[in-house]
Amino acid sequence: YEVKWDAVAAEKGGYDHFMLKEIYEQPKALRDTMASRLGEQEVILQEFKLSAEEVKDLHKVFIVACGTAWHAGLVGKTLIERWARIPVEVDIASEFRYRSPLIDKHTMVVVISQSGETADTLAALREAKKLGARVVAVTNVVGSSVSREAHDVIYTWAGPEIAVASTKAYTTQLEGMVLLGLYLAQARGTMSPEKIGQVITALKEIPTQAQEVLEQAKDIEDFAQSFVDVEDTFFIGRSLDWNVAMEGALKLKEISYIHAEAYAAGELKHGTLALITEQTPVIAIATQMDVYDKTVSNVKEVKARDAKVIGITFQGNKDLAKSVDHVIYLPKTVVELAPILTVIPLQLLSYYVSVARGCDVDKPRNLAKSVTVE
Ligand code: G6P
Repeated sequence: YEVKWDAVAAEKGGYDHFMLKEIYEQPKALRDTMASRLGEQEVILQEFKLSAEEVKDLHKVFIVACGTAWHAGLVGKTLIERWARIPVEVDIASEFRYRSPLIDKHTMVVVISQSGETADTLAALREAKKLGARVVAVTNVVGSSVSREAHDVIYTWAGPEIAVASTKAYTTQLEGMVLLGLYLAQARGTMSPEKIGQVITALKEIPTQAQEVLEQAKDIEDFAQSFVDVEDTFFIGRSLDWNVAMEGALKLKEISYIHAEAYAAGELKHGTLALITEQTPVIAIATQMDVYDKTVSNVKEVKARDAKVIGITFQGNKDLAKSVDHVIYLPKTVVELAPILTVIPLQLLSYYVSVARGCDVDKPRNLAKSVTVE
């Protein structure tokens, strides 16, 4: 009798793939990333050396990253502008360094990188430093190049991410953006302690709510089967929902090789609507309540083209159900935190579609976990 010991299977902890394991690790990763950083009405970033005076003196923020980390940056822009009232530009690292960005010592450059080793991001960081910016890194790897070279570091505590398609790194990066946004708002006095306290209270609920979303996996696995022969899909939403749509589309492209396009829901009518037919499933995200009604009317436009539509919204938003074929309900939170929950069904969807199509989930073709060439 011989016991077969499979080290890789053991590392997967009972899951079929690292990606699924990492999706399920999100409640813990989110809890670890906020641990010891939250007071009642205050964000504490011990590792942050920038003084309140220096924060008040900032005129501009750039967020620079690649891939999934760039998508987290897009959410960060809205949070920082809304809460801390500083103009923010978001750039893809390989673009940023070649376009002579307007930077001085009143500029903060935030680089986001799971690995902390991405060549484009590292080069952007060096360029920003050279131009005199204050550089903050949001990274998951202690001692990584990015963490060593930045002036300040905010670590995400997601733990090692093995699957090429990023999941828990993204949601903890979103959390990093929330922490940074609140911290800057607090230092600049642009948000009352009560308002900060409300977001903190909601943030503390997020890991449990993420767990609740994961409990809908079976449902998502079932309708993922209808994507097996699909060639094109659209992910639509407005505001932060659009940013998450971009990440959802990327996940599907990366691991299932289905063409997916993310579109600002209000922009569809300016051309792309022509591509939507009954052959093109649409995933419509509607959690941003200030534009909710507008998104629902955009959903009706795609429905009128016979597209099969899956909606994602908060529990209690009953009217979306009337215009879509299937709704995924998320537990209610403050709108700025919604992306952390919204992306989970999208991760699960691409995971199950990839499995159903027989793709190599953890090691998709032509992609690397960390790209150290430019
Ligand atoms: C690669 C990976 C992506 C990742 C990007 C940035 O392209 O395939 O999943 O988002 O690099 O990686 P980083 O480690 O800098 O976050």
